[in-house]
Amino acid sequence: MPNPLRSALRAVVENGVQLVSAFNRRRLPRTDQPFLVGIHAPMRAELTLENLPVTGSIPPGLHGRYLRMGANPVDPDPAARHWFLGDGMVHGVAIENGTAPWYRNRWIRSRLAASALGRPAAPGPRRGRNDTVNTNVVEIGGRPFALVEAGSFPVELSADLEQQRYNPFDGTLGGSFTGHPHRDPLTGEHHAVAYDGNVWDAVRHVVVSDAGRVVRDVPVAVEHGPCIHDCAFTARFAVVLDLPVTFSMRAVLAGHEFPFRWNPSHRARVGLLPRRGEDADVIWCEVEPCFVFHVANAFDDGDGPVVLDVVAYPTMFATDGSGLDALGRLERWTIDPTTRRVDRRVLDATPQEFPRIDERRFGRRHRYAYTVAVPPDGNTQLRGASRLYKHDLETGHRAVHEFGDDRVPGEFVFVPAHGEAGEDEGWLLGLVIDTANDSTELAILDARRFEAAPVATIRLPHRIPPGFHGNWFPAARPEP
Ligand SMILES: [Fe+2]
Repeated sequence: MPNPLRSALRAVVENGVQLVSAFNRRRLPRTDQPFLVGIHAPMRAELTLENLPVTGSIPPGLHGRYLRMGANPVDPDPAARHWFLGDGMVHGVAIENGTAPWYRNRWIRSRLAASALGRPAAPGPRRGRNDTVNTNVVEIGGRPFALVEAGSFPVELSADLEQQRYNPFDGTLGGSFTGHPHRDPLTGEHHAVAYDGNVWDAVRHVVVSDAGRVVRDVPVAVEHGPCIHDCAFTARFAVVLDLPVTFSMRAVLAGHEFPFRWNPSHRARVGLLPRRGEDADVIWCEVEPCFVFHVANAFDDGDGPVVLDVVAYPTMFATDGSGLDALGRLERWTIDPTTRRVDRRVLDATPQEFPRIDERRFGRRHRYAYTVAVPPDGNTQLRGASRLYKHDLETGHRAVHEFGDDRVPGEFVFVPAHGEAGEDEGWLLGLVIDTANDSTELAILDARRFEAAPVATIRLPHRIPPGFHGNWFPAARPEP
């Protein structure tokens, strides 16, 4: 039962914090925000383009939509803007019978974005004041949902992106969600580790059924309000990354919108939660302090260790929280649930991000992982980040797809060529910015001829700023 006195006190404290934060936000230096200029300059309009020009030959098996999310503030505040924040925008390209019939981009109409646009906010229930959704778009229960971590309910999108509605999985989601749920292809369950910006002593293991309803929501005790961007699962465990980027009241009071910072006093650990277990069942394994945004995959090595492939950073948000402190590298962590030891092995020290696999392998041993290059000098305009990598984790071989100078690829998603396709038998789809022409291509690569030119590109006449995550939404589910 809620304690009325405690609730009233909390409301007073929260209001006080907001007043101090708003006052100090006005005093923050009005420096040029690197994530609002050049390649990152937001789009200013919603477009509908039809019959897009195609170069090459779109594989006939591709029938559906590629959707991708990112932050694209309607009315950006250069003093407060953080690259993770800002109104969400979804981009979609439809593919049908070797053609690309349409492209659309639409803002997620949160209350703030809708007000700035002078349009009605999207319908549906809200959770708290902040209803911004900007991180990922994922098929759950056969429907596309725009997702964000730590706050808002998801937003369900219509197939043509024209309709949107805040939808807590048909009323079954009781709290925050994540931008990175992962679907178990064997059970159809989507596993998520969710945290809440206002709850600092627990995170939750949430499971959404293949029909799109929450069927499990179990709290896991933590300290300091850790920021947990991604998760993983194996046949036995959900994997909880409790790493030392945590809620910082100091950052909030100083006026920063992004409230998480590196916290050296937070013990770094990986939790192995039995998939049907409770908080008391978590096997916590300490790991050298570091941070992980994204997991490629995890699996059980027999009934022994858990293997976890991640992009890991030595620190994150240790300074002002506005950019990367250090560069990420691809690592394989071997986690022994008996000894509780975590062995970290560097697979590739080259800066990279956005690891993806053939997601039919989620939770089981995978051979291939695909990543995107990050500029070695960390420049925020992404100059020099013109490559994708394909890692063969059996042989250690790394193949490179070079898009060429002036090209900046985003995350690429693997789409199997057909239901029985081998692990790398299929296509890789992603957006590539042409910085010389301020335009964009949706590129389709043959994953087995990774270094060859794209089999097809779909040309968009405008620049889509670098975003976060996207997925392929087949027009119909493959036959079982
Ligand atoms: Fe992410």
